[in-house]
Amino acid sequence: MEIFIDTGSVRDITGLTETNLLNGVTTNPTLIAMSGRDFINEISDICSLVDGPVSAEVTANDTEGMITEGMRLSEIAPNVVVKLPITMAGLKACNHFSKHKIKTNLTLCFTEVQALMAAKAGATYVSPFIGRLDDVGIAGSNLITGIRKIFDNYNMETKILAASIRTVNHVKEVAIAGADIATMPRTVFDSLLRHPLTTVGLMQFEIDWKNTGQSIL
Ligand code: G3P
Repeated sequence: MEIFIDTGSVRDITGLTETNLLNGVTTNPTLIAMSGRDFINEISDICSLVDGPVSAEVTANDTEGMITEGMRLSEIAPNVVVKLPITMAGLKACNHFSKHKIKTNLTLCFTEVQALMAAKAGATYVSPFIGRLDDVGIAGSNLITGIRKIFDNYNMETKILAASIRTVNHVKEVAIAGADIATMPRTVFDSLLRHPLTTVGLMQFEIDWKNTGQSIL
């Protein structure tokens, strides 16, 4: 499973480009607003650092506006993916970009059928929102399981990009359910390797090693 960072700020990818663990970035208007930076400049800076797809979202509600904005966004860098809402207007724009070989990410997906429609419209990625479903008492990871089954039934190539990931457990659940990608805030990424028994175990090894008085070199 690939890992993307979900952010509106280039700061959140600092130090990750050398790890080979970062496969891409997703943004949304809320995250860009939180960064306080100019949208086009921020996307441009992120694209220059990340060797992978960077989703940048349109804000228009109509197909024509989405196409105009999406074309502008796709000119920023070759790795820009145009992020569109799962609405009829968004699916029409998706179909347009698909014909022009411009990658798309269909966002705000909350049902298996919405994902099926996105795939039929030629979406490169579809983004089911796990955490927001959990917030309303529906198990978000079940949505990934359902979409995986449907896409596999029909050999659909659209990638499942699990979004609205809030916890390490979400990462585990979507990986088990067969998501192609999980996008997460930097705080969640930083928690992926943390475990109290790892920390305690390392401290004990250090103490015991010092007591031997030995040195490897
Ligand atoms: O980028 C979309 C998604 O990841 C947002 O997550 O936590 O605002 O539901 P959240």
